[in-house]
Amino acid sequence: MGFRALCLGLCCVLLASHIYINVPGNVEEYWKVMALEMGVKTFKFMGTCLENIGIMTLEEFISVILTLDYTQPLSDEYVTVTDTAFVDTSVRLYLPKRKSEIPRPAVIYIHGGGFSFGSFKQKAFDSMNRQTANKLNAVVVGVDYRLSPQHHFPTHFEDSFTAVKFFLQDKILSEYGVDPTRICISGDSSGGTLAAAVALQVQNDIEMKRKIKLQALIYPSLQIIDSYLPAHRENEHAIILSRDMGIRLMSSYLTNDKTFAQAMRRNQHMPLESRHLFKFVNWSILLPEKYRKDHVYTEPVLGRYNYSLPALMDVRASPLLANDSLLQNLPSTYIITCQHDLTRDDGFMYAARLQNVGVQVTHDHIENGFHGALSFMASPVYLHLGLKISDMYISWLDKNL
Ligand SMILES: *[C@@H]1O[C@H](CO)[C@@H](O)[C@H](O)[C@H]1NC(C)=O
Ligand SMILES: *[C@@H]1O[C@H](CO)[C@@H](O)[C@H](O)[C@H]1NC(C)=O
Ligand SMILES: *[C@@H]1O[C@H](CO)[C@@H](O)[C@H](O)[C@H]1NC(C)=O
Repeated sequence: MGFRALCLGLCCVLLASHIYINVPGNVEEYWKVMALEMGVKTFKFMGTCLENIGIMTLEEFISVILTLDYTQPLSDEYVTVTDTAFVDTSVRLYLPKRKSEIPRPAVIYIHGGGFSFGSFKQKAFDSMNRQTANKLNAVVVGVDYRLSPQHHFPTHFEDSFTAVKFFLQDKILSEYGVDPTRICISGDSSGGTLAAAVALQVQNDIEMKRKIKLQALIYPSLQIIDSYLPAHRENEHAIILSRDMGIRLMSSYLTNDKTFAQAMRRNQHMPLESRHLFKFVNWSILLPEKYRKDHVYTEPVLGRYNYSLPALMDVRASPLLANDSLLQNLPSTYIITCQHDLTRDDGFMYAARLQNVGVQVTHDHIENGFHGALSFMASPVYLHLGLKISDMYISWLDKNL
């Protein structure tokens, strides 16, 4: 009895020492978010324990937990839902049952999950995609891609691009009754990275005959070259996605080399020859004054470790590295950013760079928002913020697609 109590006590102390909860005072549903974050931290702690014992990695553990949230393709009276594959990429198709006199618009949705987790099968994404199909009478395609750490860049990009390229063929568009001039590519978080990268590819690839009308990016991550932006400094311990976790996920997206994450934590991961790229992410110019605050811009330390990772300078991993001539071919863009979010400044800088080259941008910034909220709008955790983001996204599509 005494031994058990001691063990329990020790576990509690360990757990408490790993759980530093830092919910900003202005978030809505404060206590619910607090409980959610406590759950997230507990799972992270359990995963880390299992990883240290050598049973499974943290990523594998979180993936197992997430599969509990997966849904089957369920058709209802409005939409026919099926899981299929476009070439080798798994997709979930939502085809409205309502008759349409004219061809329908289409939305391709790429889910988030730090390049390591998740699927279009998650309840939240499934319900949002279904709602999009319903509200817009649109064909919606949810895209899955192979995940890290088993797969590295550019696999995730290539899987997504394969699905989009397949869908954009005239014979496929007409098979689904889609209007080729009304297509949007969307995604959240790492799915936002992939959506932005795929959009750049589609719009600039002369072999792609069909172009897209819109892109919608929900708290996207858009660059990996500077890991010490004001958003990183302010959100080191942010809820859902801490700086450490963000860097771990980015690092395993690129490589198996564990030292890379350490270099990235110090913002010393870029090679000498990348100097010319830093003007594209110079937050001291691209970020609105309000968000620069009194942070001081420091030039990054280059060539400290010489990782031979071409991905570091690749536009498909960091859409913000696209030069102006590539950016100006992008379609009208929707960006949602959240204040308490590691990726906040990426979205701000992308909005500024797109506007500078004349691309039409609608940018909604949520002052009391945080990263990942979209994944929590189905049982057991409904967040008002998740529903709000989903509504903002769908009503923007409804007006613009
Ligand atoms: C970033 O902008 C600042 C001015 O705010 C400038 O001093 C610095 O040289 C710029 N750095 C890069 C890499 O563009
Ligand atoms: C990386 O390369 C640069 C230039 O070639 C060199 O000066 C530097 O010493 C190298 N760093 C390491 C850690 O090898
Ligand atoms: C922009 O980037 C593309 C692709 O890397 C390149 O072909 C093009 O020459 C660049 N344009 C300018 C103006 O630098």
